[in-house]
Amino acid sequence: MAGRIAVIGSNMVDLVTYTDRMPRKGETIEAPEFSMGFGGKGSNQAVAAARLGADVLMLTKVGDDMFGPNTRQNYINNGIDARYVDTVPGASSGVAPIFVDSSAENCIFIIKGANGQLMPADVDRAEADLKTCKLIILQLEIPLETVYHAIEFGARHGIETLLNPAPAAPDLELSKCLKASFLVPNETELATLTQMPTENTEQVVAAARVLIAKGIKTVVVTMGKKGAMLVTQDRQDFIPGFDRIKAIDTTGAGDAYIGSFAHFYVASGDVLSSLKKAALYAADAVTKPGTQKSYASAEGFAAFCQKYGV
Ligand code: RIB
Ligand code: NA
Repeated sequence: MAGRIAVIGSNMVDLVTYTDRMPRKGETIEAPEFSMGFGGKGSNQAVAAARLGADVLMLTKVGDDMFGPNTRQNYINNGIDARYVDTVPGASSGVAPIFVDSSAENCIFIIKGANGQLMPADVDRAEADLKTCKLIILQLEIPLETVYHAIEFGARHGIETLLNPAPAAPDLELSKCLKASFLVPNETELATLTQMPTENTEQVVAAARVLIAKGIKTVVVTMGKKGAMLVTQDRQDFIPGFDRIKAIDTTGAGDAYIGSFAHFYVASGDVLSSLKKAALYAADAVTKPGTQKSYASAEGFAAFCQKYGV
């Protein structure tokens, strides 16, 4: 078994409305379809890695509502270690009303609920188990203090950390994230982090280089279906997206990418080849509706690769 992966992050219940178009302000329109599923960036990344066979430990907080027990069971069903999935009395679970239009693009509201109470002390309480992990993955749907604390924790114990600074958070203090091993923003998040334009590849590389100069070792900028840019001190590699598929729901595609990358990386130790495989894994996910629902198992992913001869 390859090394363990810990995710310190969010869980949400995704309430997904499929619509032909988004309503205008004050307008009521009928949408043809609705579906509910497990989401939240942290949980999505955990589930993607676990479905591929990774050994995953999840630290998160659920509310004491009807979603809490179901969310806990979802981790167990996916083979994820849920001993640090805590229930917050009196809090609601995180929920995400999502609207997907006919172009497969989405608009998302997030209501963090209990995720807002995952604190630095919760990281410390899991110290013994976290120390058995090879990689810790973080996003920004939990308190920023906890994110900073986990990065410090990783640095102190020689555990690699991957920060996905999503959703974009203007109050994130970059200076407290410089010990992260991997920073994986999309173009918008990169612009927020650096206050630089990220409209084209040159600008993306220039902004990523600023992060490298500040001390981040590896930056991966995801650019949706276009692909991703890997930037390190001495090189940069563009990894094109896989465009031979028809997208129907891109929700959670970025999480599929990060979770699967984590699995491939921990298993192989090679960043570039793991990013290439992650692009394929995410491409498969956008061909299916839903968030975690669309994440393939190892067998499903092998079938996708075989179908396209990749
Ligand atoms: O990245 C997609 C996720 O963002 C959704 O699952 C939703 O829950 C929000 O957290
Ligand atoms: Na999908």
